Amino acid sequence: MFYKGSVLNLIDIHSHILPGVDDGSADMKESLNMARKAVEVGITHIFATPHHLNEEYVNVKSNIIDRVVSLNESLKQSNIPLTIHLGQEVRIHRDIFTSLEKEEILTLDDNGTYLMLELPAGNVPAYTQEVIYELLLKGITPIIVHPERNKELIANHKLLFELVQEGALTQLTSGSIIGLFGKNIKVFSKRIIEHNLAHFIATDAHNIGSRGFSLQAAYETITKLYGIERTFFFKENAELLIQGQSPSVDRPLQIKKKFLGIF
Ligand SMILES: [Fe+2]
Repeated sequence: MFYKGSVLNLIDIHSHILPGVDDGSADMKESLNMARKAVEVGITHIFATPHHLNEEYVNVKSNIIDRVVSLNESLKQSNIPLTIHLGQEVRIHRDIFTSLEKEEILTLDDNGTYLMLELPAGNVPAYTQEVIYELLLKGITPIIVHPERNKELIANHKLLFELVQEGALTQLTSGSIIGLFGKNIKVFSKRIIEHNLAHFIATDAHNIGSRGFSLQAAYETITKLYGIERTFFFKENAELLIQGQSPSVDRPLQIKKKFLGIF
């Protein structure tokens, strides 16, 4: 652990800050406003992760790269001290490997090692474990975004454990931890952290309003609940990503405790 005695950057690995590409920022003006808000709460680096293949939006790698370059230029011109990194939020899909072959898929920082993978909100497709396995074989580790908001995982905790056991990492949304998505999702988020099934916290920010940059607030909650070491664990993992190093992974534990009487 290199964090001891050092100050970690506040890094957000999931956001919809890129203008005009999905249900996040509508235009450059809104992106710059989002950037100002992020800087206000201490964020220094943000991965732009537009939706891809989620039935509504298609954002291929080359388009994202061009737009990230342009957003970084605008940030510089506006004297906003924030760096935007390359990313993409890819909906799990049978065609994901075709998209990969066509070079439409963008890993974090385009370094071919970590991919933000989204499950549908209501279920976990039967081919999920196969897709994770195939990605891992290609040297790409999927980071499952907001598993705490997936209805099937909420009902079947063993399945999340199995996905992490298989080698997937996960990212919880900061808003889930502070209760913005309701009590069930907040409680499930805590269970996920307590069983070493979470590896990153990120905002999934879409705007400066209800889905903004609550990263610091989530870390404060985590520190209160689990101590500063747990917050460092998550902060350091994000830092390791931008340094091209492997994040820390604690041994995953099965969630055995009953969850709100669901089973
Ligand atoms: Fe997202």
